[in-house]
Amino acid sequence: MSQASTSGYQALYQQASADPVSFWAAQAAKLDWYKTPGQILTQQDEYHYQWFADGELNSCYLALDYHLTQGRVDQTALIYDSAVTGTKQRFSYAELTEQVALFAGVLKANGVGKGDRVVIYMPMIPQAVIAMLAVARLGAVHSVVFGGFSAHELALRIDDASPKLIVSASCGIEINRLIAYKPLLDEALELSSHQVPCCVIYQREQLQASMLPGRDLDWLQQLAQATPAACVPVAATDPLYILYTSGTTGKPKGVVRDNGGHAVALQYSMQAIYNCQAGDVFFAASDVGWVVGHSYIVYGPLIAGCTTVLYEGKPVFTPDAGAFWRLCAEYNVKVLFAAPTAFRAIRKEDPDALLQQYDLSALQYIFMAGERLDPATFHWVQDKIGKPVIDHWWQTETGWAISANLAGVELLPAKAGSATVPVPGFTLQVLDDSGQSLAANQQGYIALKLPLPPGCLTTIWGNDERFVEGYLQTFAGYYASGDGGYLDEDGYLFVMGRTDDVINVAGHRLSTGEMEQIVASHPAVAECCVIGIYDAIKGQQPLALVLLKNGVSISEAELEAELTTMVRRDIGAVACFKKAMLVSRLPKTRSGKILRKLLRQIAAGQSYTVPSTIDDPACLPEIAGLMAQRELIGHM
Ligand code: COA
Ligand code: AMP
Repeated sequence: MSQASTSGYQALYQQASADPVSFWAAQAAKLDWYKTPGQILTQQDEYHYQWFADGELNSCYLALDYHLTQGRVDQTALIYDSAVTGTKQRFSYAELTEQVALFAGVLKANGVGKGDRVVIYMPMIPQAVIAMLAVARLGAVHSVVFGGFSAHELALRIDDASPKLIVSASCGIEINRLIAYKPLLDEALELSSHQVPCCVIYQREQLQASMLPGRDLDWLQQLAQATPAACVPVAATDPLYILYTSGTTGKPKGVVRDNGGHAVALQYSMQAIYNCQAGDVFFAASDVGWVVGHSYIVYGPLIAGCTTVLYEGKPVFTPDAGAFWRLCAEYNVKVLFAAPTAFRAIRKEDPDALLQQYDLSALQYIFMAGERLDPATFHWVQDKIGKPVIDHWWQTETGWAISANLAGVELLPAKAGSATVPVPGFTLQVLDDSGQSLAANQQGYIALKLPLPPGCLTTIWGNDERFVEGYLQTFAGYYASGDGGYLDEDGYLFVMGRTDDVINVAGHRLSTGEMEQIVASHPAVAECCVIGIYDAIKGQQPLALVLLKNGVSISEAELEAELTTMVRRDIGAVACFKKAMLVSRLPKTRSGKILRKLLRQIAAGQSYTVPSTIDDPACLPEIAGLMAQRELIGHM
């Protein structure tokens, strides 16, 4: 590890590596368990480990009820700020607990109990948070589906999670456009084979959804007749939630998070990484449909007794690029956490003016994640705000940061482009194709040594084989992160991007494999390949390279428009699929495998080596020429 690091971080890191059991037992002791765990770490087999196996707790209790015993009855737990409706609402810990207990009563009265799954398809309104915590209160398992996903994506998740009940709302609001959620839900339920007997719908005043008698229940009516439900103790190893994320195939992976490891890891991270204590205000500008929303809009800040900000709006246009600064000033936000894309959008709209209007004296740190933080954006934010900008690297799978600058331990000197150093508890290595550790500054696959610390995924829902094969068998004894990068001579980590077919568009994780399936289903398409290319704001955007079937006549513009409609319909607008390019051939190996990495390198304007296995090297300059003509070449 880093020679440059000083004792605080180093000492903690060594402690966690040398004796993980004592380290995590001490962290676990900070929580109010129903049954304090005696077994800290248990290895079940070569691939599976359990944290706190004999412990019992309830995640909703830790996030809410516990604080009522700690003098936080009147402290604000949640601030809802909706720039799209002009609503501002505060919930104290007592009020939020009451709402959650009542909604848990609604769920219970409709048959939801321990272990049952509940799908939540909601916009960024307090009811989404209430629903999540109510599910956790009953020891049931929530699966939140991001509102920007299509009916087809929702149906895939319904079939996989087989929920007993679905919670949704009549609409979401995208800047000034209403997105009717209920018709999408109805369509998803028609598409799915799993039948859901009950849906609870929150009717927003902006749009009334039509209800299906016998299946759909009105949130407010149900609440009016509900009896509050108590917290149900669960085993630390019982699942708290399933969160689907994009893999390399068309089928999303249901990442399973346990209750115990999750609570311990988040509690630890709030203090060690974000330097937050009870009473501090935390604003994660994400969405409850993503892992950042789960960990740092809902569970992390609440378990730590902080105030969390739930923001319904965009960083720009609602109403302007000062939105984040307004929120930080108005609510005395201590930590702002957002994706680099948001700051690139702010910089474009407002290179410097609006910021001056706001008092940001309470703001202490800006954390970024979700995609690579390019040095230009890092410097811009740091220069403008004058507060530490902390890039930290994590994934849906880990649930919290793998690599960061630990504000609550010791702030190390930042290096632009680096997510600083491994978080205590994670041991990471950069490996080559054969699993050998690489020297400093050599780029390879980033892998995490097993066992992973508490809070990381325990399996893939209903598909443990995919968990083992996809993550644990690539490099023996390691979790393969799917990201590539390097450690520099000081042990600082630089994450350079995915090594698989996953792309990050505006911090949203998407599968090019899934897009390829959709593009390939167009009747004119003989062959195709979807890659991520540079986008100045969103970091990446998808590009389809398409080979037409013989004899088919369709213009590039026409095909592009049709494919755009198809991807929007099947995945959702959030895929930001807008570009398709006709090619006469694709680079392949002699065995027929498309050389995607080569295409990515061409699109990034990087030099590349023509592999000896390539079938038709002449297609490379041709594709590069076409990309250049359409101005598709670029990189951060
Ligand atoms: N429900 C329905 N539709 C949604 C949606 C939601 N929750 N979220 C996004 N969409 C739609 C948008 O309306 C847009 O549709 P359009 O193509 O019809 O205009 C499309 O999905 C793409 O959305 P988005 O990526 O948000 O692009 P944008 O151009 O509307 O906004 C930014 C650009 C930069 C402001 C926005 O991408 C942003 O805020 N990014 C930060 C993302 C973030 O915080 N990620 C967190 C991960 S940690
Ligand atoms: P998600 O699972 O949606 O959180 O996306 C995880 C992926 O986002 C990672 O595998 C990375 O590719 C990327 N990512 C997240 N944080 C960072 C970061 N700080 N730097 C570089 N890439 C990141």
